[in-house]
Amino acid sequence: MRLGVNVDHVATVRQARGTFEPDPVAAAYAAERGGAAHITIHLREDRRHIQERDLEILSRTVAIGIDLEMAATGDMVAVALKYKPAFVTLVPERREELTTEGGLDVAAGRKRLADVVTELGEGGVPVSTFVEPAEEQIAASREVGAATVEIHTGSYANAAASERPARREEMAAAARFAASLGLRVSAGHGLTYYNVKPAAAIPELEELNIGHSIVARAMFVGLEEATRQMLALMRQARVGFE
Ligand code: PXP
Repeated sequence: MRLGVNVDHVATVRQARGTFEPDPVAAAYAAERGGAAHITIHLREDRRHIQERDLEILSRTVAIGIDLEMAATGDMVAVALKYKPAFVTLVPERREELTTEGGLDVAAGRKRLADVVTELGEGGVPVSTFVEPAEEQIAASREVGAATVEIHTGSYANAAASERPARREEMAAAARFAASLGLRVSAGHGLTYYNVKPAAAIPELEELNIGHSIVARAMFVGLEEATRQMLALMRQARVGFE
């Protein structure tokens, strides 16, 4: 099982001072040394953290892949086709949100999303869609030509303890359904060192994408070590250690 480390928060600290540090490019190297399979960056319309300059340097210098999270807009498709990340994850985007709050409504935006997926695919950029654990959204993702669905784990991660097993089962069922349609399946959002194992144990999940919790721990142990610790928990979950 692979880990994608989201380094947006490193850029958030940099932007808070409008300076040059900490640099998400250095963060990408540390995540790589810690065993990350790729780094994730979200180039938002308002450029509140990651800048196009980060994407440009990362795409020239980092050996592991880049997962470019973006809104399905014409401007962002042009950026993706210019830098050709390993893949793109289409996410909903609202200016006023603190972070990506829900999954993309692929079912409602089928026609436009199919065009976006085709355009990116013709440019050699595979697409993942970030969706709620709902069959309708997963089936629509398959229809528009996505190669992968990333299941939004927010409802699991934010659930009260008593609700968590049910939310986990919802996630697992969604992952099974996606795999049965021939989609690759990943998951992320709100996962932490404390709640990652039940998610990581879902066999259909090939990859988890985690940002906030890893960057938070990195303040105390460094990003390389924080990445390594998260991967260790994911691997323990896979072999059944508690
Ligand atoms: N996956 C997607 C598609 C996201 O938008 C985010 C948040 O940027 C994450 C994963 C990581 O979420 P978190 O920072 O809560 O780990």
